[in-house]
Amino acid sequence: TSPNASTTDFRAFHGTLIHSVTSAEIDIIENGLLVIAPNGKIVKLEKGIAQGDVNDQLSEYGLTADSPSFTSLPRGEFLIPGFIDTHNHAPQWTQRGLGRGKVIMEWLNKTTFPHEARFADPEYAQKTYGLCVGGFIKQGVTTASYYGSLHGEATKILAKVCREKGQRAFVGKCNMNQSSPDYYKDASAEESLSVTEDFIAYVRKLDPTSELVTAILTPRFAVACDRDVLGGLGKIASKNPDIPIQTHFNETIQEMEITKSLFPEFDNESDLYEHFGLLNSRSILAHCIYMDEYDTGRLETLECGVAHCPVSNTTSGNFGVAPIREYLRRDMKVGLGTDSGGGYSSSIIDAMRQAFVVSKARELNTNGEDKPLSINEMFYLATLGGARVCCLDDKIGTFAVGKDFDALEIKTMGEHSGIITYVEDYDTTEDIFEKFVMSGDDRNIARVFVKGRSIK
Ligand code: GUN
Ligand code: FE
Repeated sequence: TSPNASTTDFRAFHGTLIHSVTSAEIDIIENGLLVIAPNGKIVKLEKGIAQGDVNDQLSEYGLTADSPSFTSLPRGEFLIPGFIDTHNHAPQWTQRGLGRGKVIMEWLNKTTFPHEARFADPEYAQKTYGLCVGGFIKQGVTTASYYGSLHGEATKILAKVCREKGQRAFVGKCNMNQSSPDYYKDASAEESLSVTEDFIAYVRKLDPTSELVTAILTPRFAVACDRDVLGGLGKIASKNPDIPIQTHFNETIQEMEITKSLFPEFDNESDLYEHFGLLNSRSILAHCIYMDEYDTGRLETLECGVAHCPVSNTTSGNFGVAPIREYLRRDMKVGLGTDSGGGYSSSIIDAMRQAFVVSKARELNTNGEDKPLSINEMFYLATLGGARVCCLDDKIGTFAVGKDFDALEIKTMGEHSGIITYVEDYDTTEDIFEKFVMSGDDRNIARVFVKGRSIK
């Protein structure tokens, strides 16, 4: 390559850019100019640049308005930060839509475990994880926190597929050595932990700087892990301060009762997981539905992240309404999870909308005290909120200079109008944005970027 090659590798966009400023405020930047360096980092974000001034602004990057890596976004098109899916079960990809009406233990035993057990076969894992990761990228998920199956080999394949397809991902070997059927259970605590350590070593080799892929500790939930596994994972967590942790937390009454009977020495799940060294600022806790002041206070103090999964919370056998308004009031870290296949959808756009519907139920339950989510808040949960949950808000979640360019190019006109998102001449940019959030789908996501690379 010529010595000047890198200068032509800058990428730039001119047009409407939308990102969160706080949980409640978004910035709709009109005539924005965004420049991305060859290393994928945002190096320039300017507002109100007239079309005629674009060339002047681009010259220092070796770009002009005619360069192939320059994109002018016309009316109806805009850039948003990529979606962050803070809770996702990759081996449940093929079970989405199944299992309505079953409460957690029956759902796990009858619907989930038979699907996850198939990942003992690496060939099946290769094929299915390719479809799964490709499917999430197509729907605009630039960062996902994945539970794998319990299998070391298949989970390595998942990590490799994420890396190859260019998705940013946390990937975890699922630990589960009790309360599970013999055909789908870790053989012992020692094996559960050694497969985890081997998996962590594999990911460190695959992606030494965690440029995209990071291993995550993944005790399925306390019901499925004995004290040796929970304590062993806590030790790994304390020895590896860069490794995040994920589990399910206060998801259903049935699960909470079983947890109590298995671990009678703890009054609640906060004390349980904290005791084993699994609750800290790197923890991503799915659901967090049935919360009293003690549990909420512990998660707030320990700076744990909450993965809100409104689709699965309301479409499996139990119907749970998580107190998201309370988390936002306290400025706790909260983002969205598809929890697919816990629900029918693997779309973060669907999760945004269902979060809104659930927040209306919450309003009813609290006699109007907990106001429903606004469009801005739904969008925040899907982007910057998720980045905070993953402790990646210094790197992604907005278009701030210095962050990586993880973004979606949204189109709402012509072939991208889908059948729902319908834009009129008189629609304002706010209208177009609201229509996209409330009625858009993957047909509106024209291109997907992670760290400056186009991956859709
Ligand atoms: N609790 C334990 N395992 C699971 C799972 O796979 N999905 C959900 N939603 N909850 C769980
Ligand atoms: Fe889950």
